Amino acid sequence: MTEPDIRKGLAGVVVDTTAVSKVNPETNSLLYRGYPVQELAATQPFEAVAYLLWNGELPTADELAALRATEREHRALADNVKAAIDLVPLEAHPMDEVRTAVSLLGASDVSGAGSVLDASGTPEQNLERSVRLFAALPAIVAYGQRRRRGEQLVAPRDDLDYSANFLWMTFGEEPDPVVVDAFNRSMILYAEHSFNASTFTARVITSTLSDLYSAVVGAIGALKGPLHGGANEAVLHIFDEIGDAANVNDWLDEALASKRKIMGFGHRVYKSGDSRVPTMKAALDTLVEHYDRPDVLALYDALSDEFVARKGIHPNLDYPSGPAYNLIGFDTLTFTPLFVASRVTGWTAHVMEQAASNALIRPLSAYDGVAERHVEV
Ligand code: COA
Repeated sequence: MTEPDIRKGLAGVVVDTTAVSKVNPETNSLLYRGYPVQELAATQPFEAVAYLLWNGELPTADELAALRATEREHRALADNVKAAIDLVPLEAHPMDEVRTAVSLLGASDVSGAGSVLDASGTPEQNLERSVRLFAALPAIVAYGQRRRRGEQLVAPRDDLDYSANFLWMTFGEEPDPVVVDAFNRSMILYAEHSFNASTFTARVITSTLSDLYSAVVGAIGALKGPLHGGANEAVLHIFDEIGDAANVNDWLDEALASKRKIMGFGHRVYKSGDSRVPTMKAALDTLVEHYDRPDVLALYDALSDEFVARKGIHPNLDYPSGPAYNLIGFDTLTFTPLFVASRVTGWTAHVMEQAASNALIRPLSAYDGVAERHVEV
């Protein structure tokens, strides 16, 4: 018998085709439906990128207006979802709160409730569900931060687009256009990244003909881990630990001596730089200037220069987005929920793609436990 070729972590394994995005590690490029992500971030509102991921084309002016109108309709936090969030202990991680809220949104949508055979939904139903989740998540994330600060829910504003309204619901103040622009770019950069762990989780769940909400709930669980979405939160903990650019060398000596993983660096696919970093770093630069916080940039540069010089491992998107979200005023615990609000677009695009050409995902394993034995009687 030949030894099975085991690829731990599925590293290097191509499991399916996708038309949603293309990651090219050789050129450090990332395309959403063919468009370079940096071009989309520089020119498009996040709503248009969501439309692109779901439908394959950028929207016309009318299509964008229609999506925006539907998004506005489903923005407000539903009473039952607010009540469920209020039941989550304040000490719980907000990712658990977001997971619970999405689960309840799924249970509240009874369109596929008749039988498990109806759960997976039609393509039209799944597109509707995707738009609804996209519209509902900002209020869930914003309220999560507010209630941890002892603040009341802020109702959405119909006169603001997605990103500005998201910031409004979080902070209760009309945001500066510079901040809206940086935030919008971050949402676009986080939206999609091929078969990463959470997207793959969503596809596995979809492959059993389960429903889109269940796929998103599973994806949220995968994203919570610090090796995936949790890294942007971890970057801020590191910044807090180091405190000042002058401490970087000593801190790094100790961290590397104790074999610590430095969060915000390294990537399973990109080995010579993450294609999304220059765009997010430019957004961080505008925020540093807007808030007049050169100290943040000094620490950012000192740590990345030193780590790249010592280990040759480059920053990933979480490295610039962590401090950017911090400057905007998001609490560190809110960073990964922000990632959910963005990535839900990519997840749902993959759910629809998987459903359209489904095969149950069920790999094999090589048994290495005890040899067959028998119960002694
Ligand atoms: N800090 C310290 N060492 C790191 C590192 C980091 N951030 N990233 C990789 N390495 C080390 C690995 O430990 C490994 O060392 P070894 O050969 O002595 O075991 C070596 O670099 C090669 O790692 P690699 O195989 O390229 O990593 P991977 O593909 O298994 O892991 C990550 C990729 C993302 C899981 C990993 O880089 C990591 O844990 N990064 C920090 C978490 C993070 O920022 N995640 C967000 C990703 S977008």
